[in-house]
Amino acid sequence: PPAPPCAFVIFGASGDLTRRLLIPALYNLAASGLLSDGFRIIGVARGEMSAEDFKAGLEKGLQEFATQKVDAATAKWLLNCVSYIVGDVDDPATYQKLKAELEKLEASGHTQGNRLFYCATPPQAFAPIALRLGEAGLSDEGEDNTPWRRVIIEKPFGTSLESAKELNRKLLSVLDEDQIFRIDHYLGKETVQNILVLRFANGLFEPIWNRNHIDHVQITVAETVDVGTRGKFYDATGALRDMVPNHLFQLLSLVAMEPPARFDANSVRSEKAEALDSIRIPSTEEALFQSVRAQYRGGKIGDKEITAYRKSPDVNPGSTTETYAALKLEIDNWRWAGVPFYLRTGKALSKRRTEIAIKFKQAPVSMFRHMKLDEFGENLMVIEIQPEEGIKWLFNAKVPGPKVEIASVGMTFEYKDYFEAAPSTGYETLIYDCMMGDAILYQRADGVEAGWRAVEPFLTAWKEAGAEGIATYEAGSEGPAESEELLLTDSRRWRSIT
Ligand code: BG6
Repeated sequence: PPAPPCAFVIFGASGDLTRRLLIPALYNLAASGLLSDGFRIIGVARGEMSAEDFKAGLEKGLQEFATQKVDAATAKWLLNCVSYIVGDVDDPATYQKLKAELEKLEASGHTQGNRLFYCATPPQAFAPIALRLGEAGLSDEGEDNTPWRRVIIEKPFGTSLESAKELNRKLLSVLDEDQIFRIDHYLGKETVQNILVLRFANGLFEPIWNRNHIDHVQITVAETVDVGTRGKFYDATGALRDMVPNHLFQLLSLVAMEPPARFDANSVRSEKAEALDSIRIPSTEEALFQSVRAQYRGGKIGDKEITAYRKSPDVNPGSTTETYAALKLEIDNWRWAGVPFYLRTGKALSKRRTEIAIKFKQAPVSMFRHMKLDEFGENLMVIEIQPEEGIKWLFNAKVPGPKVEIASVGMTFEYKDYFEAAPSTGYETLIYDCMMGDAILYQRADGVEAGWRAVEPFLTAWKEAGAEGIATYEAGSEGPAESEELLLTDSRRWRSIT
């Protein structure tokens, strides 16, 4: 069904996110009949321009970034929904103009008073926007949440446990938890959402999904993109903060969580937060021993020359910011005690690949006397998140012939063999769910804080160690040799990303 009517207010409306993702996503929702006639968009940004100019910019963006062929009538309908307000998010006057515009729409009977405020701004603006909305009374809901008022907060949500807590405190001083939608775009990916279905709509996996049968788990988010023009943001952030407490921990918590009592936002999010809360907090020495950080040197990816990280624009030439991070984490609960979770992510690597590899224990003894257990291939389940989308099993089979020879073989499920899905931006489901009031794919305050708590020891240890202990790797390689060592110490190996 179409989502209920609402005013979709975008702060940061002239930015990249709006053009590249939000408008194309709204277009896709409109094309699927999921926006109601009473849907309206209000853009808020600092640039002086007319609503017509603003719309023209959006239209250009849509043509450039649409994931489907743009149908002229649908695009026209969407752009007709748009109005524009010039204003600084820090200026109370902006919110008075916004109030007038909202009240005008509401008086004309369009949006039924429902308001979705999307913070597509730099992170420093998240708290000020919420506080000003509160001050101006724009985010107060009616009785029984009718009309509703919701705020979507983009990433990054804080830069440390303390700053995330502080941001939560500020948001919660003016909003209720169920009005706050903290986005993590990994949860918009079909392959990520499918982890829940794979685990909890099948009886097959649950009996073996534990320490009795699983040896360890590897979570890899390998990227070929380099720092590019994001030097300013990235050099202050690093691979760990940019990727681990959010995207990699989404994957980890979906794999590690206990079955929720119900498929609803609070049950699912409680179990996810519980899983993150069970991650053992290492001491500073342990954190150093259980992690690798590295920076890429110059190199080549395919035919493309990659400039060394330290020579990239807006990056400090003496920077100690990591572009690659690998961690070994332990989850201290009954299901996972003794099963390490190895996580790695990096930029400027040889291949783009996001996957979760679950390594099962080998057969208990070898009946094939001429082969030792460690000569068998691995028993592995690989959940492929992107760009390949599917699930792969690796196991052993007999090589045909008179002798018993054993080889590793595979079985693969690929989404594209079963389902036809129009390409999307990954934001459609998230935006639609927010309009429907379903927060299952959004992060709750406790989940975000549990994520930061788990990475904090690594951040502290690395900060204390400074330039000491930061490895390097060639751009276009699989990452630093030190990362191999992290697993070799445990007599294990990373899967190759190529
Ligand atoms: C963003 C990070 O959140 O996620 C980027 O800031 C990263 O550095 C991106 O490249 C990865 O997203 P995806 O969907 O391409 O895996």
